[in-house]
Amino acid sequence: MTTRVLLFTGKGGVGKTTAAAATATLAARRGLKTLIVSTDTAHSLADALSAEPGEIAPGLHLHQVDTQRTLERHWGELQDYARGVLTELGLDEITSEEITVLPGAEEVIALLELREHAREGRWDVIVVDCAPTAETLRLLALPEALDWHVNRLMPVGRKLMRLAAPLVRGVARVSAPGEEVMSAGERFHRGLMEVRELLTGDHASVRLVLTPEAVVLAEARRTLTSLNLYGYRVDAVIANRVFPGDDADEWRARWVAAQSRLLAEAEESFAPLPVHTVPYLPAEPVGRHALAAVGEALYGESDPFAPPAVEPPLKLAADELTLALPGAERGAVDLARKGDELIITAGPYRRILALPVALARRKISGAVLRDGLLRVRFTSEAETDEARGRDGT
Ligand SMILES: Nc1ncnc2c1ncn2[C@@H]1O[C@H](COP(=O)(O)OP(=O)(O)OP(=O)(O)O)[C@@H](O)[C@H]1O
Ligand SMILES: [Mg+2]
Repeated sequence: MTTRVLLFTGKGGVGKTTAAAATATLAARRGLKTLIVSTDTAHSLADALSAEPGEIAPGLHLHQVDTQRTLERHWGELQDYARGVLTELGLDEITSEEITVLPGAEEVIALLELREHAREGRWDVIVVDCAPTAETLRLLALPEALDWHVNRLMPVGRKLMRLAAPLVRGVARVSAPGEEVMSAGERFHRGLMEVRELLTGDHASVRLVLTPEAVVLAEARRTLTSLNLYGYRVDAVIANRVFPGDDADEWRARWVAAQSRLLAEAEESFAPLPVHTVPYLPAEPVGRHALAAVGEALYGESDPFAPPAVEPPLKLAADELTLALPGAERGAVDLARKGDELIITAGPYRRILALPVALARRKISGAVLRDGLLRVRFTSEAETDEARGRDGT
């Protein structure tokens, strides 16, 4: 059985938790076994659903990440190692409590748990309430960026370690990491890569939540570009807090006019993605009943749990690589080749892409960005190692 994974992200306060909870409530009502989790440690999902973690309705489970416990489970060995090394370097011992304040650590842990839930295979739908835009992006890019470092550092590091460990242990108080520590690190890393595969896979998609305001829309556009850059498919945009136009007094009429301009703009910039709207309700939609109503209004006739109807952003062919970068400005996109890697920059975001073997040995013959699609062409002949060396510098 395949699990449909739905991620909700967007700027702070726009209604991510509400949209996620509404979607999960709707899923359960339609008879789908649904799990809803949050990557953020504030307990806002429980507040929105007005429930304690656990099975909160037939077929609807709310999971709350216990960061401290999970941290110790996943990071125990690495943490011991880090603590030991820092102590030996004369730095104060860091405690596991302090490790949790490392940026992104909590979300990473939440995602590791997510992978375990997905592996269980008993969920039809997993809904993830993600952290606000920037954090989520950094977090989502992390496994791949780490992969780059780990691939680079791990084999060498391990070789060195193997040579140095007996020596070092015998001579000084410095503890070199043992094999078991390295393999914990590798295990952890593999876990992150699996999370990435899950979240960029055929059954996962991201829903971008926004409110019809200029600043929010601008940020949502950048988020769409960067989510694509990192290989995540966005399959819908949710415009929340849309003022109803009927019987409006002058104050509201002005908001209605401004919002409808922005909604038109959103439709245009996100096309062909659907832009679903949710009205500004007279009260906070708290509790399953109110959330289910939000879910119905949100999706209307469309099936929110159907497989994603959008293509994955990145495609590799025999002599070409294409990456959908909707909204990216030509001047903000940059390409660099470094050996077997292609480094793609879009505004402040960067992706280091390990080229598949077939492309890695070829030279880039040209690249264009047109209508939000980056096309990188490779020569048909494999280049020599010598040429590759030159290219990489
Ligand atoms: N359509 C709506 N009408 C009225 N109130 C709403 C609507 N959508 C959300 N709210 C309320 O707005 C507040 C913020 O919503 P929510 O918590 O879903 O945002 P969020 O994007 O998850 O915020 P954060 O970035 O802090 O996680 C909540 O009190 C919620 O009940
Ligand atoms: Mg929230």
